[in-house]
Amino acid sequence: AVIVEHTFVVSQIKLRRLCNDTLVTVVNGQLPGPAIEVTEGDSLVVHVINKSPSGLTIHWHGVKQQLNCWADGAGMITQCPIQPNKNFTYRFNVKGQEGTLWWHAHVGCLRATIHGALLIRPRSGPNSYPFPRPNKEIPIVIGEWLGMDPIELETRIQRSILSDEPLSATINGKLGDANNCSGVIEDNYILNVEQGKTYLLRIVNAALHSEYYVKIAGHTFTVVAADANYVKPYNTDTIAIAPGETVDALLVADASPGRYYIVANSKSMKVKTRGIVHYNPSKRYDDTPVMAPDMPGKNDAVASFYFHGNLTSLPHPLAHPVPANVDEQLFMAIDTTHMCREGGSVCGLVSRMNNISFQLPSRTPLLKAHYYHNVSSSVSTLQEFPSSIPPGLVYDEGQTSKATSVRRLRYNTTVEIVFRCPPVMYSYSNPMHLHGHDFFVLAQGHGKYDAQKDVQTYNLVDPPVRNTILVPVVGWTAIRFVASNPGVWFLHCHYEKHASSGMAMAFMVENGPTLDSTLPPPPSDYPSCDDQNSGLAF
Ligand code: C2O
Repeated sequence: AVIVEHTFVVSQIKLRRLCNDTLVTVVNGQLPGPAIEVTEGDSLVVHVINKSPSGLTIHWHGVKQQLNCWADGAGMITQCPIQPNKNFTYRFNVKGQEGTLWWHAHVGCLRATIHGALLIRPRSGPNSYPFPRPNKEIPIVIGEWLGMDPIELETRIQRSILSDEPLSATINGKLGDANNCSGVIEDNYILNVEQGKTYLLRIVNAALHSEYYVKIAGHTFTVVAADANYVKPYNTDTIAIAPGETVDALLVADASPGRYYIVANSKSMKVKTRGIVHYNPSKRYDDTPVMAPDMPGKNDAVASFYFHGNLTSLPHPLAHPVPANVDEQLFMAIDTTHMCREGGSVCGLVSRMNNISFQLPSRTPLLKAHYYHNVSSSVSTLQEFPSSIPPGLVYDEGQTSKATSVRRLRYNTTVEIVFRCPPVMYSYSNPMHLHGHDFFVLAQGHGKYDAQKDVQTYNLVDPPVRNTILVPVVGWTAIRFVASNPGVWFLHCHYEKHASSGMAMAFMVENGPTLDSTLPPPPSDYPSCDDQNSGLAF
């Protein structure tokens, strides 16, 4: 194993899109930011130099950070933001993990433009992939173009200005020709292929707001991994990917030479983007049209439900067995509504987990408080919910309490969570993401969770292992994980609006009995909270 070192300089740059020059905050002048490529077991050292006007953190989405919670990079959960003109170095390893993960800012909406792929290759080389060796590997990062700096979006959200939809989706930062504006050609993302070759697409949904369907005209995919865990090869012409999720898929260039659109369509909004799969780069196909795929219709939840439900895990040396016994079962009702105050003049979103709308601490990160046994009284225990949703789940500002809700877990507790999206007026599917642990996805269903009946449908043999899972709209998903990593781990919806309006909580996992189950002290350059500017705490 080696040490892989990177420097991330975060600054604002001007990008011209849709006929407008827009100032956006990015890493190393790129959108998306640099893809980090490592080998399983490597150590990473990333120096973050903040030359932007906002405090920020970088989160390594899906990296387990065993006994290394200090490097998780969740703003005000594990650390204070790195203030403008300050630096911080993240040090962590990628032991026992292979596949596609990613990194992103974890303060407010900054991840809209501060993100990139993190590719972890097998230690014994590409011949040890549990699928045919690809000729080439290609990161496909799906994002959204907001038409403004995420710093500005954040301010608007904090002032409860309901922000509108993004202006376009993007593939690797490109808006594509569906979004032409007069006088400016928005260039397409081009994926050059050679006939007969196999490509491993490492797809990341880095978007703030939407689940996406991805298709390529005239081609099918073989899905081989999700969230850096191998799955049994699954053939499909449609990939469904929610914010926070990653999907690795093989693409064989087996169509007749030509040009084919690769399309990413939002499931719930109007936005989309398309790139071009181009056979034999030296050839031009000017006289033949680019083939376009048939996309699932807007709000088609069925394709996504089946995509997620059809994945099963592949036996692999890095895989762990499904824990058979559960120590704690938690039921989590997650919901969102629009709420207006002051006679309807100030409106915004309120999201909740078991009736509590999560609030980040303002002065001391939870991890620091936990480590020094100094948890403030404003931190409260996640409300216990029974297996059926209590009646009268109605929004009313008086009833929705805001709190920093946490749940303490003893080391090595096996936790089962049943997430439920109840039938409220504004129902969404919700991609729930847990930091510091992967979990087994045992089952999902539509409608109400039935404790007696639905347990029978649990897959305890080969459930997919993930760090983010889409909970279906007016439905439920059951997951299981072992709390084997001491520290404080955020659990939240990966839709930015839902997370920042309160669909979140944190697990405080206690130390185990031995030194190798005890969280070490913080690194010496751990950012202090004293110089925090008040503007962007979250
Ligand atoms: Cu990808 Cu808490 O985030």
